[in-house]
Amino acid sequence: MRSLLLLCIAVVLWSLAAVVVRSGSSDGFRDTEAEISLLEKKLITSEVLMVPLTLIQGADSKGAVCLDGTLPGYHLDRGFGSGVNSWLIQLEGGGWCYNHRSCVYRKTSRRGSSNFMEKALAFTGILSNKPQENLDFFNWNRVKLRYCDGASFAGDSQDEASQLFYRGQRIWQVAIETFLSLGMQQANQALLSGCSAGGLASILHCDEFRELLPSSTKVKCLSDAGMFLDAVDVSGGHSIRNMFQGVVTLQNLQKDLSSTCTNHLDPTSCFFPQNLVSDIKTPMFLLNTAYDSWQIQQSLAPPTADPGGIWNACKADHSHCNSSQIQFLQEFRNQMVLSLNSFSSSNQNGLFINSCFAHCQSERQDTWFAQDSPQLYGKRVAESVGDWYFDRVNTVKNIDCPYPCDTTCHNLIFE
Ligand SMILES: *[C@@H]1O[C@H](CO)[C@@H](O)[C@H](O)[C@H]1NC(C)=O
Repeated sequence: MRSLLLLCIAVVLWSLAAVVVRSGSSDGFRDTEAEISLLEKKLITSEVLMVPLTLIQGADSKGAVCLDGTLPGYHLDRGFGSGVNSWLIQLEGGGWCYNHRSCVYRKTSRRGSSNFMEKALAFTGILSNKPQENLDFFNWNRVKLRYCDGASFAGDSQDEASQLFYRGQRIWQVAIETFLSLGMQQANQALLSGCSAGGLASILHCDEFRELLPSSTKVKCLSDAGMFLDAVDVSGGHSIRNMFQGVVTLQNLQKDLSSTCTNHLDPTSCFFPQNLVSDIKTPMFLLNTAYDSWQIQQSLAPPTADPGGIWNACKADHSHCNSSQIQFLQEFRNQMVLSLNSFSSSNQNGLFINSCFAHCQSERQDTWFAQDSPQLYGKRVAESVGDWYFDRVNTVKNIDCPYPCDTTCHNLIFE
């Protein structure tokens, strides 16, 4: 019962618009011609798998709906060969809405309504169906669950007056039940994954995922670019905490967050991974750059914290940061490394914290697994995650030395 697969000559879809990726340390001169010809070669030769959107019929009867009340959806590419009983669930990311206005706005986008979702998505990186692009997971059942609740699949409330539905938790539940009925009930191995807001969702739901699967199933979780730190911004304020507090308050998340955490910390703190990851019982892998681009832009130096825009050049391209800005970013990295201390002490957990300026490295082919992909200790992201998932090595705890020591980065440059 293989669902319709559209194999298209690819337009390489970058997850962020207007972003250029440079290989290497990228501080030197840029070989534009080589870059363009490389891109053209990719355009001509790579066949990207396009997987159609399926709406979850009947989800509305269980109250599992997007912000605007439409049905949630997913993209599934069936496993084959030795992978038929293996399942990868990838939770889509895409920020959060944190007040009435931003949620009302979100209702009119693919992040809040399935009416606006792409009818098919490119499956690349960890979602690719080709062994040369995705060593260990290419023949698994691979699912991308769309994100349309605005709160990392965590809420369960609604705003009657504004017809806003905060039903991420129900979407999560109904979606997992759907996948179980589609064969995940027989899974012998499974991996819950996600990037950005989806990476946070993977952290929030990891132990639940474990419990929803048969106890005989090997279950692990991966969070890509989900380590959002409770950091102080460039003005000395707490931009991301304010945003998270908005999400938690608006969607009334208090009751949905880990009670282990809320027993001793305020609810907003319990939406921050640093206060959650060491209590997760299921094996977990944290993949994150130490200088996460999204966090630099939205948490450390958002316009509200930098009204004069003196961080704009540095934010867009790390090679334009001056020494005091780099120092600020090094402190951020220190906080990142420190926050992983206790998580890291567990043998079953894995880490890949590379000193790069990027955000989400598992779904993009160039960062997940390509000839020149980012590496730590000689292993690319796909190899490190595979080594950890399949217990091929004793431990994968890779934390890079500080910038600028890594020459394998694919840094994001915003133009
Ligand atoms: C770095 O740039 C910032 C913003 O323009 C400025 O305030 C600071 O003084 C600069 N520091 C150095 C060491 O040049």
